[in-house]
Amino acid sequence: MAFRLRVPSLQIAMGEKIALTGESGCGKSTMLDMLAFLLKPSAIGAFCFRPQDEKEPLDVEAYWKADKLNKLGDLRKRHLGYVIQTGGLLPYLTVRDNINLCRKVLGLKRDGTVEHLAAELGIANHLNKLPDTLSTGERQRVAIGRALAHKPTIVIADEPTASLDPYAAKRIMSHFIGLVEELNITVILASHAWGHIKQLGLRQLHHRTVRHGDSNLTETIVSG
Ligand SMILES: Nc1ncnc2c1ncn2[C@@H]1O[C@H](COP(=O)(O)OP(=O)(O)O)[C@@H](O)[C@H]1O
Ligand SMILES: [Mg+2]
Repeated sequence: MAFRLRVPSLQIAMGEKIALTGESGCGKSTMLDMLAFLLKPSAIGAFCFRPQDEKEPLDVEAYWKADKLNKLGDLRKRHLGYVIQTGGLLPYLTVRDNINLCRKVLGLKRDGTVEHLAAELGIANHLNKLPDTLSTGERQRVAIGRALAHKPTIVIADEPTASLDPYAAKRIMSHFIGLVEELNITVILASHAWGHIKQLGLRQLHHRTVRHGDSNLTETIVSG
C-alpha cells in the first residue's frame, strides 16, 4: 500500500510551538523527517527556511533539487535538534558527553549549558553515568537535553514520551516545553495523544487522511 503526505501550505513562525497529532501511521514521522531536511519531498512547490541570523530565507527546495546534501546536513547540524521516541543516546558516552554531542560537533566551547540543562531536567546527578544505568524516563530527559544544548532554532520531537508511563510522560513533557520557551526555541512535536499535550499551549496542525480504494493509496493532507 502506498502512502502520500501532502502539505498544501504551512507557515511556522519563530518561537511557535506546534503539535502534530493523529493515529499511528497517519504520517507524523514522515512530516517531521521532511521538516528536518532528512526526507526529500517527491515534489516541491516551495520550501523555505529562514534561520535567525539570515536576512533572506534559504531555498531548501533548491538545495534538494541540486542534491546539496552537505548543505542540508549543515543546516540540520546548526539549526535543528531532534528528540526521537526511544532517545537514541550513544551507549558508550556518558550523559554529559551525550548532551554535549551536538555542541561538540559544532565546535562550541563548554560554557555550563550542559550542566544547566541537566539541572533543569533533574538529571544533574547522572552526568558521569552511562545511559544504560538510567531509567527510561531519565534517558528521555538526556535526549531532550541533547536536542537543546546547542540552542537550535528548531527542536523536532517525535513522540518523545511515548515509551513512558502517563505520569512521567506528563512531567517530562511540561519540563521540555518549559525549556523551549525559556530558550525561545521553536518546537514541532508529534504525539499520538492530543490529550497528553493539550494543556501545554501548542498550536495543533490539522490533517485528514483519505484512503483511495481504487489505487490502494493512503493520503494525509496537512493544513496549518
Ligand atoms: N521507510 C518506509 N518505507 C515505506 N513506507 C513507510 C516507511 N516509513 C513509513 N512508511 C509508511 O508511511 C505511512 C506514514 O508513516 P509514519 O510517518 O511513520 O506515521 P506515524 O509517524 O504517524 O505513525 C505509513 O503508512 C507507513 O506504513
Ligand atoms: Mg511516527
